[in-house]
Parts: sequence; structure tokens; C-alpha cells
Amino acid sequence: MDPRSEVLLRQAELFQGSVLLAGLPADDLLGRLPDAFGWCWHAGDQAMLEARFAGRSHFGVHAPERGFDSAVVFLPKAKDLTDYLLNAVAARLAGREVYLVGEKRGGIEGAAKQLNPFGKPRKLDSARHCQLWQVTVAQAPAAKPLESLAQTYELPLAEGPLKVISLPGVFSHGRLDRGSALLLEHLDKLPGGHLLDFGCGAGVLGAAVKRRYPDTQVTLLDVDAFAAASSRLTLAANGLEGDVLTGDGIDAAPLGLNAILTNPPFHTGVHTDYQATENLLRKAAKHLKTGGELRLVANSFLKYQPLIEEHLGACSVRAEGQGFRIYSAKRA
Ligand SMILES: C[S@@+](CC[C@H](N)C(=O)[O-])C[C@H]1O[C@@H](n2cnc3c(N)ncnc32)[C@H](O)[C@@H]1O
Repeated sequence: MDPRSEVLLRQAELFQGSVLLAGLPADDLLGRLPDAFGWCWHAGDQAMLEARFAGRSHFGVHAPERGFDSAVVFLPKAKDLTDYLLNAVAARLAGREVYLVGEKRGGIEGAAKQLNPFGKPRKLDSARHCQLWQVTVAQAPAAKPLESLAQTYELPLAEGPLKVISLPGVFSHGRLDRGSALLLEHLDKLPGGHLLDFGCGAGVLGAAVKRRYPDTQVTLLDVDAFAAASSRLTLAANGLEGDVLTGDGIDAAPLGLNAILTNPPFHTGVHTDYQATENLLRKAAKHLKTGGELRLVANSFLKYQPLIEEHLGACSVRAEGQGFRIYSAKRA
């Protein structure tokens, strides 16, 4: 059981009604709170929840349509995502309770201040390195449209400016990551055909490829529904076509690819997580056609080369700079 769920269950009597659990972990919490239901935007967690509690968790960037009489927000990493989630639930809970639960090292103590606009927050519990806060919504705020929280920046590419639009919580929100910038300088000689932007975030890599190589079919994949929604906004803002998928890891990607381009994940929330990237390196060959290329940017300290050589083939460093490396390997 996730420690945040354990803290909620110490006061289980508070959560017996139709409580919305926003950003819930994929554990047994729904089993312990029979009238609760989830709102999830992580495709991997959603798949696990769906397998165990079919129909009890809503997937997407908007709160579920169905009514709820209180809500718990599990503190996400990004402050502006917390604001969005709190506003989205408080807008529907005039006179009712909103709870915020999170780990101390995730910043719950400071984040509790984000409850101030709705009423006077109270700390209900502190245990398992987590805190649980509560506020009664004195006056429901107007719901802020998600798009109003988007940030846009423009990249001056050789083919013309590219608008990049990102929503709260998405990697490198409102600015270009240095690793991705290096990869964008090395898009030459990518194989044509079908390209996957793995872990697409706001869609900057996939959109830049489509802009530069209009005949390439691009698929963008991310585990996070806010990232996928951002990628769709980015493609649309530039009049570009591409398939945007949500799914957990390379297993969710199409087969028969000519190229995989990626700035892969290595952090998940407050925890470091190389699993999705290791799995990508192990299985890239299965998803690539013969001669298909994996082109990847990573922090130089991450030792990906041996793993790529073991599972895909000879791996070269195409470029290096500012603590990042670009690796390239082709399926033999
Ligand atoms: C380093 S960011 C790169 C984002 C974007 N490509 C860019 O260059 O700005 C890695 C992305 O991988 C996504 N990600 C993390 N775990 C994943 C998984 N299991 N499957 C697919 N995508 C994942 C994250 O949500 C994040 O958007």
C-alpha cells in the first residue's frame, strides 16, 4: 500500500462517501473505499486500476463528469498541476471538503498553502512521512479551463518557427530542455517512413521531425495524459499531422518502425525510475524494422551504451555537449 493511502485509511470514516481520488496510486485503496472512484492521468497506473477495479477510475486531463461529494488530491510534483487539480475539484464542491495528501519530501507542507484560496486549511494527520490536509470550500471558484494554463514558446527552426505548447505538469513546461535542444540539432539523416517520438512530453521532437520531414509518419507516445494533450496542441498549433498515444512504455508502441527518437524518462515524481528507459533499450529491436534507427539523448552519466549494444547493435555517440550525449544504433 502506498504510504499516502495508508494515511487516508487511518481516517477511513472520512472517505466512505462518493469521494473522488485525484492522482491516486495504483494500489488497493479503491478496494478499501467501496464508494470512492479515481481520476488518473498515468496510463500505467490506469491500466493496473482498470484490471483490478474495472470502471472505477476515469482516465484523462479533465475531472470526471459524474458527481462526487468530496475529493482527495494526491500531491503531484508540479505546483501548477496542483493548482489546476485543486481548482477543478473545488469548483464542484461548494461547502464540501477537499483533502490534499502527499509526502513530506514531495513538499506537502508548502503545497498546503495552495488550499488557502478555498478556505482555512487544517492539517488532519502526519504519518508515514506524509501529511493529510483538509479544507472546507467556503465559496466554489470558477473552473479554470485547462488550456488557459498552457504555456507556449517558439523555436526558431531552419524550416520556420515551431510553436510548442505545454500543459501543467508536463516535462520542461514552457521551455526547451537542454538535452532535447541538442537532439534537435542532430535530426539529420533520420530514416524516412514511420518514426516514434517515445516519451513525447509537449511533442517538441515529433513536431520538429514532421516539420522537417513532412513525408515521415510520426507517432508520439507518452504515459501521461497531460503530455499527450500537450503534444496534440503542439501539432495542431503548427498545422502538423501525427498520431498521439497514451501508453506505458515501449510495449504500447507500434511495430515496424523506421526510427525511434527519444529524450527518455529517468525521473518519476520524487523517485528515480530508469525502468521505462531500460525496457525501451531492451525492446527497441522488436519495434524497429531491419535498418531502423534508435536515436536518443541522455545525460552523459547515464550508462546506456552497453545496454543498447547488448540488445540492438553497435552504438555510436553522434554528438556530445553540456553534459548530454546523443546515441545512435541501428537494428542489424
Ligand atoms: C525527458 S522527458 C522528454 C519529453 C519530450 N520528448 C522533450 O524532449 O521535451 C520524458 C518523457 O517520458 C515520459 N514517460 C515517463 N515514463 C514513461 C513511460 N513508461 N512510457 C512512456 N512515456 C513515459 C514522461 O511523461 C516525459 O514526458
